[in-house]
Amino acid sequence: MYDNFECVDVKLADGIAWVRLNRPEKRNAMSPQLHEEMEAALTTLEVDPEAKVVVVAGAGGNFSAGQDLKLFFRANENNPLGRKKAQRAANRWRWELLYNYDKPTIAMVEGYCVGGAFMQLLATDFAVAAEDATFSLSEVNWGILPGALVSKVVADTVLPRHALYYCCLGEPFDGKEAERIGMVNFAVPPTKVEDKVTELANKLMAKSPRVLRATKQAVRNVRSMDFGQSYDYLAEKGMAIKVGDTEDSYNTGLSQFLDEKSYKPTFEPFKLGSDEEKGN
Ligand code: COA
Repeated sequence: MYDNFECVDVKLADGIAWVRLNRPEKRNAMSPQLHEEMEAALTTLEVDPEAKVVVVAGAGGNFSAGQDLKLFFRANENNPLGRKKAQRAANRWRWELLYNYDKPTIAMVEGYCVGGAFMQLLATDFAVAAEDATFSLSEVNWGILPGALVSKVVADTVLPRHALYYCCLGEPFDGKEAERIGMVNFAVPPTKVEDKVTELANKLMAKSPRVLRATKQAVRNVRSMDFGQSYDYLAEKGMAIKVGDTEDSYNTGLSQFLDEKSYKPTFEPFKLGSDEEKGN
């Protein structure tokens, strides 16, 4: 199912889909073909029951050197249709798709994460970086601004001083700094990155998928709502969780705590039952 891609490598193991941009000789710079293939891979994985958590990473020790300056920019300078199609495909998977993804997503950053790669970095739900990874909002250094949604998503993620500093200076920063300013959740030694991502994925897989999906959607969506809208939306969203919840998560959770006394919600999730087999 995932073997016919040239620029994307997909491996499934123990519920985790490892999706790697696969142009290592170009530091995983993103070509129009790569964008089309990422959209196809992520769309398929969204309905693949084998994939419970999706990890977005890069092959050959680099996350991505951003848009391919030759194939995405220069080759389309006099080709408005080609440019438009490439932009649309790029934005669809890096933002519309990942930001609204039904399953939990984690960015795993090793090596370079430059320019346009901040879109997929910040569209994923969580991010783990190697301490020695190199981040750079390089656009200002070659005559453009952080486009598509890069300026917006950086400004939405970190404090304004950090966003202005790194967008305007185009200075590289490492994984530890990315963690300090809130660009990633964790920076770990390079040899521990996959382990940390796996640990996080396993924690996510222990939750009710339906409750987790609703929770991440809620946290994202309330950011642009006022208090009144948030009360209303969260109440309705809370009701919606119960529709089709084969785990009966609310009652199961209460019963395991109050009646069976088999777990404490402060520290861990309730024990999942049959929900996974039913594909929810
Ligand atoms: N677009 C097109 N090609 C790229 C690229 C990009 N964004 N990033 C790297 N490459 C290509 C290089 O041209 C080179 O190709 P070649 O072997 O045919 O000459 C190959 O990938 C290796 O790159 P190189 O610069 O030799 O590797 P490096 O490890 O010394 O440096 C980077 C890596 C990422 C620091 C450097 O390539 C770079 O600054 N790239 C531009 C990143 C950028 O500004 N992206 C923003 C796009 S929005």
